[in-house]
Amino acid sequence: MLTYNDAEKILAEYGQEHILKHFGELTETEQRSLLDQIENIDFSLLDNLDKEKNSNLKRGVFKPLDAVTTEDIASNREDYLKVGLDAIKNGKTAAVLLAGGQGTRLGFDKPKGMFNVGVDRELYIFECLINNLKKVTDMAGTMVPLYIMTSEINNRDTVDFLEEHDYFGYDKEFVRFFIQDMAPAVDFNGKIYMESKSKICSSPNGNGGWFSSLVRAGLLDEIKEKGVEWINVFAVDNVLQQIADPMFIGAVIRSGCESGGKVVSKAAPEEKVGVLCLEDDKPSIVEYYEMTPDMINLRKENGQLAYKYGVILNYLFSVEKLMNIYGNDLPVHIVEKKIPHMDENGRFVTPEKPNGHKFETLVLDMVHQHDSCLPYEVVRNKEFAPIKNAKGVDSVESARELLKENGIEL
Ligand code: UTP
Repeated sequence: MLTYNDAEKILAEYGQEHILKHFGELTETEQRSLLDQIENIDFSLLDNLDKEKNSNLKRGVFKPLDAVTTEDIASNREDYLKVGLDAIKNGKTAAVLLAGGQGTRLGFDKPKGMFNVGVDRELYIFECLINNLKKVTDMAGTMVPLYIMTSEINNRDTVDFLEEHDYFGYDKEFVRFFIQDMAPAVDFNGKIYMESKSKICSSPNGNGGWFSSLVRAGLLDEIKEKGVEWINVFAVDNVLQQIADPMFIGAVIRSGCESGGKVVSKAAPEEKVGVLCLEDDKPSIVEYYEMTPDMINLRKENGQLAYKYGVILNYLFSVEKLMNIYGNDLPVHIVEKKIPHMDENGRFVTPEKPNGHKFETLVLDMVHQHDSCLPYEVVRNKEFAPIKNAKGVDSVESARELLKENGIEL
C-alpha cells in the first residue's frame, strides 16, 4: 500500500504535487482512496505530452493495399460462407464488443448501447447488435461467446441493463464482461485535473487495451479452453454491423492473413475515415489528417482511388497472434476533450469547449503489429450506420434512415 511519503515522491517526479493539496482535509477513507488512485495511475503516460519524447506516433512509408472487393466476395460466396460457418460451428470464433467509451459526442448520459434508436417502439443499440449476432448463431446453430468491454464508469449500468432485458434473447451463459483501464485527464499544461478533493479525473484509456484488459480479467484461459481461434472485435455504435460474419471469417481464413478489417469504399477522396493500407510494408491504418493531398487523390490505372478503403472498426484477429503481440506497446494518442473537473474554488464545472487532454491507445494501431491484414469490403448502406452524434453526419438521424432502408422497423 502506498504511503503519503511515497505518493509525494511520485507526484514530485511528475510535477503533480497539487493532487495532495487537500489531503489534510480528507477523512481517513478518502485519504486511503486517493493514495490508492495515485498508486494505480500510470504516470508514465504523461511523458507522451512531451512531443520530443513522443516518437511513437512517427509514421513510416505508406503504400496502398487492395481489398477483397464486394465483387470478389460475391464470386467466392459459397466457399467463404462454408469456411466461415465451419469455423463458427466448431467453436473457433468469439466476439468482443468495445463498449467502454464515453460517447461524449452523442451527449447521452448512459452507456451508448442503452440508447433507444426506435421511433414507434423501443429498439436499443445493444438490441440491434445482439439481433445481428443472433442471425449468425441461428444460421450456424452454435453460440458465439460474446465478451463485452466496459469501463469503471459504465459497467454497472451496462450489466444491469442487459440483465433487465434478458440479454435481448442471447443466452447469457455465453456473455462475459470485463472492465478496461482508466487514464488520468490533464489540463493544457499537463496538470492532472481533480474531480473532487479526493478523486482524480480519469477516463477510459481508449479501445486499444481491450486484449490486455481481457487477459487481466482472466478470460484468455476460457477462450483458449473453448478452442477459440478468431476474435471479431467491433464497436458499440454501428447498428448495422454484421458480427461474427461467416463470409468475413471465411475470407480471412482463405486468404491466409493473420487478421482482417472490414472496410467501405470512401464516399469521396476527402472523407474523414482512416484508410487500411501498408506502412513500411506492414498493414496499417492511416488517419485522414495524416494523408497528403497526393495520397488522397492518387488513382490506380483503372481510375479508382489508390487509398480507397476506410475502416469501420470491425476487425478479425487470431488468438495466436494476439498472444504473440501481447505486451507490445501501442502508440499513445493525446486527444483534446471537454473534461468536467473541480476548479480552484472547489466547484465542479463542466466546460463548454475542450479544456485538456486524455490519453488513449487505439485498436486500429494493433493492425500494424500484424504481418498481414485482409481488407474486406462491405456495402456501406448495408453494414455501416455509426451513431456518433445526435444530429448530422454519423448520427441517430442517419442511422435511423439506414435501419429503415434495411427493413428494420423503428
Ligand atoms: P469512439 O472513438 O467513438 O469514442 O469509440 P467514444 O469515447 O465512445 O465516443 P466520443 O468520442 O466520446 O463521442 C469507438 C468504439 O470504441 C469504444 C467505444 O465504446 C466505441 O465502441 N471505446 C472507446 C472503448 O471501448 N473504450 C474507450 O476508452 C474508448
